[in-house]
Amino acid sequence: LLTKLKRDCATPLPVLEEVADAMSAQMRSGLALDAPTQLPMIPTYVQNLPTGNEKGLFYALDLGGTNFRVLRVQLGGKEERVIATEFEQGPIPQHLMFGTTEELFDFIASGLAKFAEKESDKFHLPPGRTREIGFTFSFPVKQTSIDSGTLIKWTKGFAISGTEGRDVVACLNEALKRQGLNMRVSALVNDTVGTLAGAEYWDNDVMVAVILGTGTNACYVEQINAIPKLQGHVFPSGRMIISTEWGAFSTSLPLTEFDEEMDAASINPGEQIFEKTISGMYLGEIVRRALLKMAQVGGLFGKSVPQKLTMPFTLRTPDLCAMQQDNSVDLQAVGSILYDRTGVESNLSARKIVLEVCDTVIKRGGRLAGAGIVGILQKMEEDSKGIIFGKRTVVAVDGGLYENYPHYRAYLQDSVTELLGLEKSNNVVIQHSKDGSGIGAALLAASNSMYKHQF
Ligand code: BG6
Ligand code: GLC
Repeated sequence: LLTKLKRDCATPLPVLEEVADAMSAQMRSGLALDAPTQLPMIPTYVQNLPTGNEKGLFYALDLGGTNFRVLRVQLGGKEERVIATEFEQGPIPQHLMFGTTEELFDFIASGLAKFAEKESDKFHLPPGRTREIGFTFSFPVKQTSIDSGTLIKWTKGFAISGTEGRDVVACLNEALKRQGLNMRVSALVNDTVGTLAGAEYWDNDVMVAVILGTGTNACYVEQINAIPKLQGHVFPSGRMIISTEWGAFSTSLPLTEFDEEMDAASINPGEQIFEKTISGMYLGEIVRRALLKMAQVGGLFGKSVPQKLTMPFTLRTPDLCAMQQDNSVDLQAVGSILYDRTGVESNLSARKIVLEVCDTVIKRGGRLAGAGIVGILQKMEEDSKGIIFGKRTVVAVDGGLYENYPHYRAYLQDSVTELLGLEKSNNVVIQHSKDGSGIGAALLAASNSMYKHQF
């Protein structure tokens, strides 16, 4: 069973090349005029990245990762940059992921209201002005302007009825009104877009941003004239950030029976296949399903199979990471994590097999994520000849999976280097951009502030 798993998950160079090429091709189809394609390739209406001149007090809301966050930042322009920031964060209560639209947005608005009450005198707003918010909403949204957009569909296990097709800024505004809060959303952004803006503020070579956390997505800077589906819209020429929503990608992926079973049992079967293969919400579950089969068919943990091992999502991706960091001779930590999470008792040889299963699934995830990044860079290079590989290009990455899982990070980097070769990959810097999306959203709120001419 282990040999078969390794074979099914294998990502030798030709597989990575196929995935990278398919990603480039799908990006082009998604930008085309009539685009019923895999990749949504969403125009974000973000045309101007932060310049450094942004000034004033801005708030940011961040919904869609493990935590909900609220943040305020005082921007001081070119010289002082970020003068002060404060934030609070907490998990999104599980029941809200299956509740109503109003409950979710009331939760967000009341979190913001409590946070806004505690504004200290480090922060300053000229009299008579409304506080403005950059709203990071990390789900696929069809933007209708920089400060409005309708939810296309929920991802990452959210299943709230009645939100799809609605303008999420209008939903938030109604909730703000119910809280009696007078604040205005001046930018609605995806987390990848916030990350790109936040990273670009410090480093002008950032051209791509990727989230590898609970879910996954990537955005990049595109030329307006390379977006045929925007023809007919009045946009000044120049650039626009495109959110690829690459979680929906599914071509040429090496998949196993466990991926298929997990997908079939999910709340969105047939959707978000790349996301289900490479992101944090799913990797632990794929490993659990593989171990369950090894236990049931191959007797991996002895004669009986504990009930807990049969329960979906009992093993989580951070557990895989903790197990892979166990360097002890008897793999004590592996044994106790397995026991705590799944109820199995294991001997040393079973623990070694468990580690091989983890490594196989993590290796596939990291390497495919790397191939996705190369697919984006390739497409940008084909259109611009030399702008990407002929100079330093930075890919900003954020999200708990990338940040906390060193093995995953290393596999991703290996795959990028293998695909690009040493010379090109020397120019491509894959860089962790921690919590950039909150500040990034605040910066975009500033760029689109109704007071921007008074900075
Ligand atoms: C955070 C960003 O750092 O990473 C969020 O600020 C983003 O906007 C998140 O959604 C991804 O996090 P997670 O919890 O899914 O790993
Ligand atoms: C999911 C969402 C996407 C988001 C990503 C990372 O794929 O659909 O919008 O950017 O998760 O959080």
